[in-house]
Amino acid sequence: MKLPGKSVLVTGSARRVGAVIARAFAAAGCRVVIHCFKSCTEADALAAEIGAPVVCGDLTAPGGAEAVFRAAGHIDILVNNASLYRHFEVVSGHDRDKSYFETNAAAPLRLLELWSLQPLSEGAAVNIIDRDALSSQTGGDYLASKRRFLAGSNEFARKLAARNLRVSAVLPGPMIPPDEVADKSMRKTRPGLPLGRPVSPDDLAAAVLFLAANDSITGAELILGGSTTA
Ligand SMILES: NC(=O)c1ccc[n+]([C@@H]2O[C@H](COP(=O)([O-])OP(=O)(O)OC[C@H]3O[C@@H](n4cnc5c(N)ncnc54)[C@H](OP(=O)(O)O)[C@@H]3O)[C@@H](O)[C@H]2O)c1
Repeated sequence: MKLPGKSVLVTGSARRVGAVIARAFAAAGCRVVIHCFKSCTEADALAAEIGAPVVCGDLTAPGGAEAVFRAAGHIDILVNNASLYRHFEVVSGHDRDKSYFETNAAAPLRLLELWSLQPLSEGAAVNIIDRDALSSQTGGDYLASKRRFLAGSNEFARKLAARNLRVSAVLPGPMIPPDEVADKSMRKTRPGLPLGRPVSPDDLAAAVLFLAANDSITGAELILGGSTTA
């Protein structure tokens, strides 16, 4: 699929990794729709930089995914990037389980469904999971929600292939520590970093564009940063 001219929704793209992905699609000639929840100032700044519209909304609110998708307009390429990423101190107990599941699995899977309901002759969705979702059955609510998302992503890939709608997953190792983590230890060499360094968000963005553009790929699970399961 040729990327120039295609419309792309990147969820959670006001800042951090999502903003890098949005910039990469804009540089490839796509019509990018920036999505944000709370980072409206950053979203507006990015919108001015790349000339893209902004759609705001909580994807976990009742009808939230529908409202965001409707406001985004026709979407050829969906990038499910938004997530609740190890913000352990802001959610607790039952609410925490629910928040992780709703943000990291239910909402992106609902967006995949909405994307697939459009009249499309071709299209691609790329889902950002986490390498550590493959490596163990532990890891708490965050990784459990990512495993659920990966299973759903693969289900959509099987279901939609006959319609030329391709769905793949990218599973990065550590990239950028959550804002609240003062210790930037993921920058140091440690066993979780087989290459001795974190994954570059630019490399992740390049992988996302590759999977979106390559007409022969669906159902891929692309690990970035080296497998730790061997
Ligand atoms: N960072 C890493 O090292 C790392 C490692 C492995 C995998 N990943 C995965 O890579 C992706 C990007 O990572 P990241 O660290 O840049 O993500 P992030 O900062 O944790 O989250 C990205 C955005 O998701 C949005 N979001 C959160 N809850 C939302 C909700 N209820 N409704 C709508 N949007 C919501 C937030 O938007 P607002 O700011 O606008 O509120 C946030 O900026 C994520 O899927 C993450 O799980 C990251």
